[in-house]
Amino acid sequence: MIPSGRVDPVILGHLLGQHRDLHARLLALRADFAPDHDAGHAPVKAIRDRLLELRDHLREHFVQEEQGGFLEESIARMPRLSVAAREVVAEHPRLLAELDTLVDKLPTQDVRDDSWDEAAHGFAAFTEHLLAHERNENAVVQQGYNEDFGYGD
Ligand SMILES: [Fe+2]
Ligand SMILES: [Fe+2]
Repeated sequence: MIPSGRVDPVILGHLLGQHRDLHARLLALRADFAPDHDAGHAPVKAIRDRLLELRDHLREHFVQEEQGGFLEESIARMPRLSVAAREVVAEHPRLLAELDTLVDKLPTQDVRDDSWDEAAHGFAAFTEHLLAHERNENAVVQQGYNEDFGYGD
């Protein structure tokens, strides 16, 4: 347990570092899904592998968050955050399910037709949901620890 009134910079730094890493993965995938990719597009298998990697990474990240105690600590420090913290945790399985659906529906062929548009839209929607999630999560922890991480989105 983190002593009241003190922020553990190592643990919180780790959380924020993971969020930055997730952003980098999302950006790389966004480039893969980009419709006009002059230099040729990434093969479907590479995109699928990257999505699966993201899913594994995300699952691990969520487990760490759920077991890491940041959210509980935030609630202990500021009880009014409990609803927001519960909502954030409830989003974890939904986000993983959304990503699973995206992988399941990914076209199997390297043909950029309508099925790719659908997959690209699905990925863009997933990205928005994940980034909104991380923003809400940062806000809960930031308020709980009364600390400005200087990390907006
Ligand atoms: Fe989370
Ligand atoms: Fe997170």
